Amino acid sequence: MFADTYAGRRVFLTGHTGFKGSWLSAWLLALGARAAGFSLGVPTTPSHFEALGLAARMDDLRGDIRDRAAVTAAMRAFAPEVVFHLAAQALVRRSYEDPAGTIESNALGTMNVLEAVRACPSVRAVVVITSDKCYRNDEWVWGYRETDHLGGADPYSASKGCAEIIAHSYFQSFFAQGPACATVRAGNVIGGGDWAADRIVPDCARAWAAQTPVSIRSPWATRPWQHVLEPLSGYLWLGARLLDTNAGLPAGATASFDPRGQAYNFGPAADVNNTVAEVVEALALHWPGFRSEMDAAGQAGRKECTLLKLCCDKSLAELSWKATLNFEETIRYTAEWYSRYYTGGATPAGMWDYTQGQITAYAGAAAQRGLVWAR
Ligand SMILES: NC(=O)c1ccc[n+]([C@@H]2O[C@H](COP(=O)([O-])OP(=O)(O)OC[C@H]3O[C@@H](n4cnc5c(N)ncnc54)[C@H](O)[C@@H]3O)[C@@H](O)[C@H]2O)c1
Repeated sequence: MFADTYAGRRVFLTGHTGFKGSWLSAWLLALGARAAGFSLGVPTTPSHFEALGLAARMDDLRGDIRDRAAVTAAMRAFAPEVVFHLAAQALVRRSYEDPAGTIESNALGTMNVLEAVRACPSVRAVVVITSDKCYRNDEWVWGYRETDHLGGADPYSASKGCAEIIAHSYFQSFFAQGPACATVRAGNVIGGGDWAADRIVPDCARAWAAQTPVSIRSPWATRPWQHVLEPLSGYLWLGARLLDTNAGLPAGATASFDPRGQAYNFGPAADVNNTVAEVVEALALHWPGFRSEMDAAGQAGRKECTLLKLCCDKSLAELSWKATLNFEETIRYTAEWYSRYYTGGATPAGMWDYTQGQITAYAGAAAQRGLVWAR
């Protein structure tokens, strides 16, 4: 269980104003961590970060990870024990419009964060968040394993493959004696409070709130959909294991392992590989009046793979980690968060409580289903 790991611990996150970073911040704060975030700005309006009023609950630092001196100064000043690196230009379509900026943020930005770690002796554990898109996509029907080829046909995917290579070179070249580091690769996450462009759930939420139909770009594309709390539970658990690498096997783990310098996939169960159309249909069950329509023209010109799946056997074997929620639960958590936001008179205090309620419910479900990290 990582509940005790983070209490009172100083944790530095990049990308804390983003979708995943704000959920991770909310969870770390609930665990009693002293959290500092370093980000360019709040990427969307509205945002999960502002909906919860997180700026008032943590050290909210603004800066650019492309500026090595700035991220180094911020990290050294805060002197964290744990670093979660999430900041990135996170959108495939935007990477076609700004390939250089994407690669500078995602690849060189990762290098800068690791340079900051080198200059910050307090750091004991680092988790570098990349993506399932770091893999060379061969449109296979089976899941990618951590040993498969890295690659990336589009600039975003290439930048994440680069980030992996850079991170592992730092692990081997500079961090063999510590800090303990690992990379993590997760797929499409959904959940309340995402308003990013070009993502199907935010598109649906916006359309439902505006009482307009949503137009669906690639209805038959399948993705390993998972609730945002699923990979975050894996990141937190891995961070705890990295802090504890000298303590031997965690209770309940099934294999001898050392997570230092490793990469881990965090994805849904193998049978959760639904199409975009199925996600939209499932959301519609929760939102009265919600309508959708196909947008065949929106698919032209830009390549985005249609099939992408992760094999998470290594995370199960070495971390005893697997996803907690099934597809219907994932959709329900997501749809109910937006319902609460749009119809429940959203205040930062109310949305903080609501989000904390979802985190508690999720951890409770994980404990009930025997997940080691939740015991
Ligand atoms: N959301 C997903 O489905 C998904 C899937 C796989 C991987 N990821 C990865 O997870 C991480 C978080 O994704 P997200 O969905 O929360 O993204 P997001 O777009 O919601 O947030 C991105 C965050 O990074 C910050 N940022 C961007 N460029 C920066 C820069 N140059 N310097 C400092 N901060 C910068 C933004 O301010 C924001 O805080 C990213 O690394 C992303 O590539 C996300």
